[in-house]
Amino acid sequence: MSDVEHLKEQAGIAACRFVKDGMLLGLGTGSTVRHSIIEIARLITEEGMNLIGVPTSEDTRRLSEELGIPLLKIEDSGTLDLTIDGADEFNHNFDLIKGGGGALTREKVVALKSKSMVVVADHTKKVEVLGAFDLPVEVDSDLWEGAREGLSRICPGQVSLRIKGSEPFETDNHGFILDCSFGPTISDPTSLERAISDIPGVVEVGLFVGICDAVVVASSDGIEELIKSNGRA
Ligand code: 5RP
Repeated sequence: MSDVEHLKEQAGIAACRFVKDGMLLGLGTGSTVRHSIIEIARLITEEGMNLIGVPTSEDTRRLSEELGIPLLKIEDSGTLDLTIDGADEFNHNFDLIKGGGGALTREKVVALKSKSMVVVADHTKKVEVLGAFDLPVEVDSDLWEGAREGLSRICPGQVSLRIKGSEPFETDNHGFILDCSFGPTISDPTSLERAISDIPGVVEVGLFVGICDAVVVASSDGIEELIKSNGRA
């Protein structure tokens, strides 16, 4: 296992200390939270915890089913107790860029339905100012060209249609992703999220502002828990 993979595993497992018996859990998407999902399955099978998951993507649904985690669909779940998910970047305000895996829309719906959100990450995801990671924006697949024009008026860098193989990458909701190169300039993510959401054809923006309550970060120095002072975790 590579060093980074080992850090991801440590963060993913450590975050499960927020999991309590009887919880309805949002299950995020990505290579870090994958380790949390494996640990959640262990808590069910080895420690007898009664837990139900709500997956944020088809990949996570398949993994969770393979591991035997009981699941509910997003639309069948009411309020969730806790969501654990990864992030592509986080800053000192606990604002996030997400969507590297293309699951941002369901991830945001699940996180917003949750009483709290814990992010799992390795230390490379921590930034002063968001935006070095290209901001993913999900757009309607029939309207993506107009949405790209609108985004190009806001974004100082490239706005690129995400490609998989030789075709546009298609999300679980049959949308496309536009990756926007803002560079580390996103100092007011609230205003930027609003401006992007107003562009016709935009389905969801990969900025998560005021949603995350804690970040469990792994580095070679060990695990650090960053808890938002006025947050819900
Ligand atoms: C998927 C996401 C992921 O949580 C994010 O890309 C982080 O993934 P990883 O843990 O693999 O780095 O937002 O849409």
